[in-house]
Amino acid sequence: MRIVLGIESSCDETAAALVREDRVLLAQRIASQDEAHRPYGGVVPEIAARAHAERLAPLIEATLADAGMTLADVDAIAATAGPGLIGGVMVGLVTGKALAMASDKPLIAVNHLEGHALSPRLADATLAYPYLLLLVSGGHCQILLVEGVGRYRRLATTIDDALGEAFDKTAKLLGLGYPGGPAVERLAAKGDARKVPLPRPLLGSAEPHFSFAGLKSAVMRAKVALDQSTQESRPGLDPASTAEDRDVGYTDADIAASFQAAAIACLIDRTRRALGHCGPVTALVVAGGVAANQAIRTALEALAAEHGLPFVAPPLSLCTDNAAMIAWAGVERLGQSDPLDTPARPRWPLDPDAVAVRGAGVKA
Ligand code: KG4
Ligand code: ZN
Repeated sequence: MRIVLGIESSCDETAAALVREDRVLLAQRIASQDEAHRPYGGVVPEIAARAHAERLAPLIEATLADAGMTLADVDAIAATAGPGLIGGVMVGLVTGKALAMASDKPLIAVNHLEGHALSPRLADATLAYPYLLLLVSGGHCQILLVEGVGRYRRLATTIDDALGEAFDKTAKLLGLGYPGGPAVERLAAKGDARKVPLPRPLLGSAEPHFSFAGLKSAVMRAKVALDQSTQESRPGLDPASTAEDRDVGYTDADIAASFQAAAIACLIDRTRRALGHCGPVTALVVAGGVAANQAIRTALEALAAEHGLPFVAPPLSLCTDNAAMIAWAGVERLGQSDPLDTPARPRWPLDPDAVAVRGAGVKA
């Protein structure tokens, strides 16, 4: 049975994995760079590229050793060739090319988004085409109709921020550190989502897309108001004011809960619209780092049930960036081979026919 080595380095995870065509994950290693980027509250491309360059080769060696294999046991090398932070993509793709050249094995240049889009099929052999995929990560917020390998129709995208980005920015505003999504989810569980009235951009709109910039700005205003109220209520600063008459009536946890509720309302509204326009599908599928959010999963599950569809969410380890999904995309493309002059692409839309949206070009 054939085996593919997958390499992922498009953002801040350095990852390698070995996947067999019968869906067995033989080995995988992920080196997170969270510590390196934490002081900056987000991924610094230059730091990411340097870290990939230092870590990737030993990580691949260790992954092969974990499986008790050498390159000779591998049938193809699949490396992310974009989209993503170009320095990191170049490190992974060039490493993949070098290994392919040295071992005389085919190189498969994988679109990172295709990795996310096909990852549910690694976890679930029964998932058939076409399925509706909600791809929500730090860099992407798209609804795709997945019709087959290499056949994707983008039904919606974001006109400004990606959903993961909105979570990360909210976390930064609330002083929760990086990465922000899991921290916002934890804090939201302690808050009251009714306390802070926040906008729900494009809710009910006839256009298919997402927008989160207005929500993010509203979170910022709510946080500024909260901070001012707590400063003014500090004794000694202003004897005339008290906590009672300045109290805005909510906490950081209430902001997190209200943000998450607004984000979910938008997500569900837009996905419901897509389900009404996409024709028959076999399932509603979610992928990308934000799919780790339990409240989002629960809401999507209810939406799928409303449409009589199964809801498919890959295990969390396959939702965030990883190399198993890249190796699996390679398995799905076995038999193909990309030339050694294949470019690293900072942008690489899955659906080249998708109509550009206002605000497009902001996100890769
Ligand atoms: O797919 P991914 O690992 O990397 C990208 O390709 O962007 O997604 C990372 C994103 C980050 O924005 C992170 O904050 C978000 O996924 N995320 C979450 C949660 N876990 C990760 N967002 C909301 N709730 C979570 N539990
Ligand atoms: Zn990703």
